[in-house]
Amino acid sequence: MTDQTAPSGQVDVRLIVNGDAHTVAVDVDETLLDTLRDRFDVTSARGTCGIGLCGACTVLVDSKVVSSCIMLTAQAAGHEITTAESLGGGDGRLARVQEAFVQRGAYQCSFCIPAMALTVHAALADDEAGRSRDSVREYLAGNLCRCGTYPEILEAVTDLVDEAGDRATGSDA
Ligand code: FES
Ligand code: FES
Repeated sequence: MTDQTAPSGQVDVRLIVNGDAHTVAVDVDETLLDTLRDRFDVTSARGTCGIGLCGACTVLVDSKVVSSCIMLTAQAAGHEITTAESLGGGDGRLARVQEAFVQRGAYQCSFCIPAMALTVHAALADDEAGRSRDSVREYLAGNLCRCGTYPEILEAVTDLVDEAGDRATGSDA
């Protein structure tokens, strides 16, 4: 939801960021990436290519994976934005997806990793995608890693998919 009470060239936009509702005045051409980083201290979404190719700026908008560098903040008005900051517990505990990355050494410089982990989280939450390693891998097609950590990332994905399968069948193996 937007309104026109903001100064000329700006709009007031209501966003729900990691569960909290906010109204911010933003430039009409401001990207969601800039809004999240500059106004909400979100550092997990990272600007690199700026044209929707690398996935480093990934956030979830209403649970859908979005490149925040190519979405205007005004387009996100009224929607729920989830960033990688929300994955773990507030007490610093890691989410299972993050643990799996750590256990498999799925990081080098880690620049791409928050977006990778958030994308895997979204894929696992999607019943269709979460069923197989290949479908999660398809979800990750838009996330690039300059360090080439793909094998370890896919090992973590395999662990997570296997665990999800075990839960579905009631197996503890
Ligand atoms: S910075 Fe957004 S996709 Fe590369
Ligand atoms: S771990 Fe360095 S870009 Fe992916």
